[in-house]
Amino acid sequence: MHRNVSKYALIFLFLAASGLVFLLRNIHTVENWNCHTISALYQLQSKIQSSIIPVNLPTFYHNRTFCAHLGQKPSPEDELEERYLLDSVSWPGPPSTFTALRQTSDPVHSLFAILPTKGGKEWHVGDQLEVLVQMHDFQGRPKHYGGDFLLARLHSPELGAGVAGTVLDHKNGFYSALFPLLWVGSARVEITLVHSSEAVAVLRRLREERPDRVFFKSLFRLGFLSETTVCNMCLPPDQQPLCNYTDLYTGEPWYCYKPKMLSCDNRVNHAKGGYLKHLITNKEVLLFQSGVNIKVHIPALGLDRINVLPARKVEVESSSRKPESINLEPSGYYYEDTWRPLSGVTRRQFNSSSAVTRCLKNKLIYMYGDSTIRQWFEYLTAFVPELKEFNLHSPKNVGPFMAVDSTHNILLKYRCHGPPIRFTTVTSSELRYISNELDGLPGGPNTVVALSIWAHFSTFPVEVYIRRLRHIRQALVRLLDRAPGTFIVIRSANLQALDQEVSLYNSDWYSLQLDKVLRAMFKGMNVLLVDAWQMSLAHHLPHALHPPPPIIKNMIDMFLSYICPEKKKSQL
Ligand SMILES: *[C@@H]1O[C@H](CO)[C@@H](O)[C@H](O)[C@H]1NC(C)=O
Ligand SMILES: *[C@@H]1O[C@H](CO)[C@@H](O)[C@H](O)[C@H]1NC(C)=O
Ligand SMILES: *[C@@H]1O[C@H](CO)[C@@H](O)[C@H](O)[C@H]1NC(C)=O
Repeated sequence: MHRNVSKYALIFLFLAASGLVFLLRNIHTVENWNCHTISALYQLQSKIQSSIIPVNLPTFYHNRTFCAHLGQKPSPEDELEERYLLDSVSWPGPPSTFTALRQTSDPVHSLFAILPTKGGKEWHVGDQLEVLVQMHDFQGRPKHYGGDFLLARLHSPELGAGVAGTVLDHKNGFYSALFPLLWVGSARVEITLVHSSEAVAVLRRLREERPDRVFFKSLFRLGFLSETTVCNMCLPPDQQPLCNYTDLYTGEPWYCYKPKMLSCDNRVNHAKGGYLKHLITNKEVLLFQSGVNIKVHIPALGLDRINVLPARKVEVESSSRKPESINLEPSGYYYEDTWRPLSGVTRRQFNSSSAVTRCLKNKLIYMYGDSTIRQWFEYLTAFVPELKEFNLHSPKNVGPFMAVDSTHNILLKYRCHGPPIRFTTVTSSELRYISNELDGLPGGPNTVVALSIWAHFSTFPVEVYIRRLRHIRQALVRLLDRAPGTFIVIRSANLQALDQEVSLYNSDWYSLQLDKVLRAMFKGMNVLLVDAWQMSLAHHLPHALHPPPPIIKNMIDMFLSYICPEKKKSQL
């Protein structure tokens, strides 16, 4: 009874407000469309907790710039780009710090509605579907400010179809989700609250003020002596002597506390140290509850699905060609569980190991990055029996790894990116920056480079990520200049399973921010972006840091389609 009454009240408010939003909508243009992409990663390999690590970790300067600008000073152009990039990922925050959970966004009290088309209630392929979302708090009162992190998906389980939606924040408690209609048949809307705006504010504060919440360690050894100290991208310089491992070529900063007895030259390895806990207040903890306000679906007011009719005859021409875009408009969609890109490469399917071998014949493939590109290495070596892994005696999950098919002259290598990397023990001699590795490649049309850099950067201010990508981009430009025809593929971030703990270090919100930066920084370059973000968002399988095989297969097919495009009909 009570529930019914409040529901009617909600409907009334909702309808009243939707008129307003209708007006707003027509004023809104594409400029705010970049609210939607994500990424994050989390190394679970290291279960080693740090009994060796000194308990009294250094206190950090709780201000924004300490960590970010510890490296080289950026040039004026770089600074300008940085400002632009930071601007492009700005995120509205709540007007004040929250005081009680009941005033924060509650997915169960919130709702969405499918808006009718201009011509009534008929949707055709090529149309755009618009959904209006209204957020409410735990007391059922409408929210009046934006900043909630929402995901939108349109899907059809029967057809194996799915596409990511673009979410617009009207900054008044209302959001629009826009979807292109790409298939005939049923299509169901799914809107998910990933984090409330109040939770996002906590994540942002942690990122700016506590980049030390993930720490690293190194072992120093000489003869029988060994010591372990804490390492990070930035350590307070005035508390203990430091070892400065700043990279001479790139200027990427890295420091460890100097061991008491041994010298800085005695560093033998690098590893994840651990995670600082209890960094948020008891009240803030309530903003991160699985099943309550982390990745919970928002219910529909009325129907959550539509039936899509075939394209209108007249409009087929104009709607099928989309401008190429690296922003968050859909870059592709699933149909029959197969990813169909909307622009760029024409997707081919590589269903057999012989098809993969034909494509990779005579190729040198270098994969650099985190474990999400290592998954590609693992997929290829498992799928193609002739591509035999060569035993380099590398630690499990860490690498470097190498696989060879000497019959077809294929070489495949994987190496992790430089620090910060939360892997288990990486030998100091194998701790390399991607840009330096790229500078060592001759390149050419037989060379393929595949990169993924995101998950290990989420605990640092965005400037750190920008600086890293800038160095990699400079190295890629040099590589393409000296060896045009080198294939470059960049794998974007993907969504992952979130609970409270993972959220604080590796939330999809952090990944989204990094992913937007990544797309902007490689836009216009001759590289293929494999949109792991949308491929994980549009798919029906649950989000996972390491996406399951069907999604990897789709990524690999995109990767190979780029290297081995379909031959033109005339050549057949
Ligand atoms: C950050 O904090 C440190 C230590 O309090 C201070 O020396 C430094 O000037 C501060 N930087 C900025 C930009 O406020
Ligand atoms: C570490 O070394 C780099 C490169 O030599 C230098 O620019 C930087 O100032 C050093 N850092 C500290 C804290 O001394
Ligand atoms: C690859 O497999 C899929 C699914 O089994 C099938 O639909 C498709 O036609 C196959 N493609 C090729 C080129 O064999």
